[in-house]
Amino acid sequence: MSRGLLANKVILVTGASSGIGAAAAKVFSREGAVVVLTARREDRLVALGDELRDAGAEASCVVGDMSVAADAGRAVDLAVAEYGRLDGAFNNAGIGGDRTPLHLMADDVYDTIMDVNVRGIWNCLRHEIAAMLPRGGGAIVNNSSVAGLVAIPAAAPYVASKHAVIGLTRAAADEYAKQGIRVNAVAPGTTRSEITVDWFARNPGMEQLTNSLTPQGRAAEPQEIAEAAAWLLSDRCPFLTGTVLPVDGGFVNH
Ligand SMILES: NC(=O)c1ccc[n+]([C@@H]2O[C@H](COP(=O)([O-])OP(=O)(O)OC[C@H]3O[C@@H](n4cnc5c(N)ncnc54)[C@H](O)[C@@H]3O)[C@@H](O)[C@H]2O)c1
Repeated sequence: MSRGLLANKVILVTGASSGIGAAAAKVFSREGAVVVLTARREDRLVALGDELRDAGAEASCVVGDMSVAADAGRAVDLAVAEYGRLDGAFNNAGIGGDRTPLHLMADDVYDTIMDVNVRGIWNCLRHEIAAMLPRGGGAIVNNSSVAGLVAIPAAAPYVASKHAVIGLTRAAADEYAKQGIRVNAVAPGTTRSEITVDWFARNPGMEQLTNSLTPQGRAAEPQEIAEAAAWLLSDRCPFLTGTVLPVDGGFVNH
């Protein structure tokens, strides 16, 4: 028997190959969870799975694109086949896209972002809920963004997609509350994942600007988002469902 906030829970993490997802895989494992990891980049996924197993955790990996319903289904099926159940899921996979004024955006940007950020969550929710219902419940955390709560400039489809994630979170929470499934969302502020660090590097002054808009004056580390998701997935907050937890150093409150 493992110990910790998520002891012996079987938890799926999507987009686990880097950033917040990789941090979540580590935090959830540290807290005693059995983790099922999925992402598109096989080499990084395998390396992370090996790292966790070397540290004594139980971890399985499955390559998949969450915008494809069958891939989301395979990830959930793997959890059920290997461990007999799915107790929780962190639907984290998502893309940002370049910052461009709305009227200059290419036609396909909308579909690309919506496919991953909204259809991806939709695909995961359907399969995860179907797996949780026969066991009488579970907990799901969707990764939205502060851009799901307020507008950020030159990112209209991203802002729309992250608002939609909150809509899906609330709808699913409402629909399955009586069946013991809790569905919540985290709304991270700027977080120092690879894409953000790369974006800061390509746009001089952007990091300072972002920090100046955040009362705590800095970006989050991926682990700080993962810790909040771990708590929402745990049994410590049984009466919490349909909520959105900003993890943003005070950004949306500013
Ligand atoms: N970094 C930030 O500042 C920030 C802020 C708010 C919200 N978020 C959200 O956090 C989540 C994780 O982002 P991150 O910052 O860790 O970036 P990241 O690029 O490091 O991680 C994104 C992960 O999602 C995976 N992914 C992308 N598309 C996928 C798909 N179709 N199927 C499966 N996996 C896919 C990537 O391979 C990667 O593992 C995203 O949903 C992002 O929108 C990030």
